[in-house]
Amino acid sequence: MKSVVIEQPGELVLADRPLPAPAAGEVRVKVQFASICGSDVHIWHGHNPFAKYPRVIGHEFFGLIDAVGEGVDASRVGERVAVDPVVSCGHCYPCSIGRPNVCKELQVIGVHRDGGFSEFAVAPAKNAFRLPASIPDKLASMVEPFTIAANITAFLKPQPNDIALIYGAGPMGLTAIQVLKGVYGVEQVLVVDRLPERLALAQENGADRVFNNSDIPLAAQLEGVQPTLIIDAACHPSILAESAALASPAARIGLLGFSGEPCSITQQALTSKELSLFTSRLNSNRFPQVIEWMEKGLIQPEKLVTHYFPLAEIERAMTLFEKDPRTCCKVILHMG
Ligand code: NAI
Ligand code: MN
Ligand code: ZN
Repeated sequence: MKSVVIEQPGELVLADRPLPAPAAGEVRVKVQFASICGSDVHIWHGHNPFAKYPRVIGHEFFGLIDAVGEGVDASRVGERVAVDPVVSCGHCYPCSIGRPNVCKELQVIGVHRDGGFSEFAVAPAKNAFRLPASIPDKLASMVEPFTIAANITAFLKPQPNDIALIYGAGPMGLTAIQVLKGVYGVEQVLVVDRLPERLALAQENGADRVFNNSDIPLAAQLEGVQPTLIIDAACHPSILAESAALASPAARIGLLGFSGEPCSITQQALTSKELSLFTSRLNSNRFPQVIEWMEKGLIQPEKLVTHYFPLAEIERAMTLFEKDPRTCCKVILHMG
């Protein structure tokens, strides 16, 4: 089978690999579509501290179950599935309280183990979620990115009367906009980015007001409006302090970033307004929820997708995705 392998940092190859057999409790998926994420690019360039090489990348993928391992119901063969990349032990403290995404032995498919930029991929059977016919094949890999927004909003508990502010109108910011508007009915969703093209996408995805902070700081443009819910989907370390300064008293702030650089902020900036800070990593069992949102039409994954490429053009697809955020948002690989 053909697989996208990062042999070592910087070295991407489309390799011929032996077809994997599903182990006990696993399924094998004949991958149909897979979407590119920033973390795939990071693994390629050696910027993901969790990645082990060589690695088949890809953690956002959809396909058909074509084989099952021991103990898995053979009737699952043929099922259309989206695969949750979070593989957890099931018995550590975070697992025991329903947070497998921060399992002590967390294995992320496409990061710690081989992923979905491949003609076939194996995964635990319980990670393969059956999709209703109403979710088309070519959008089904978009379940995973929406689970990130599902996870952070579960902490933030958005309310219709919130004034939400989202930093960054990349895929993460856009999925957050859609979930705040379409699922939670938040009346005011404000979005800030530096790229006008991304802000235009934010509007298409439901943002009520957009701000470009490339020349004028956001504070000067908000005219005293104090957001009550803030999501940092741009993830520069300076954003936490700015968010705290802009936030309404009693606001909630959600962080998604993985920067190793310190954020500089005083206790006073947080405590004087009694701000709540939440962090969110990947997703904790959110696939069923997002599948339901898509089925009900509460979210529109197609609004993020700008390009489709065949698997053979992986390097071109990843390069475009990385270098051209003005024209490019979600890029989906077609395996067939
Ligand atoms: P992206 O790079 O496509 O989007 C980021 C956007 O933020 C860009 O449009 C950029 O112009 C904008 N931006 C950058 N600095 C800004 C600033 N100071 N003010 C306003 N806008 C600014 O990335 P994507 O895929 O949307 O991911 C965003 C972040 O989320 C990344 O840092 C990524 O590591 C993180 N992430 C976290 C996950 C989690 O589970 N916690 C999962 C996936 C991504
Ligand atoms: Mn992703
Ligand atoms: Zn665990």
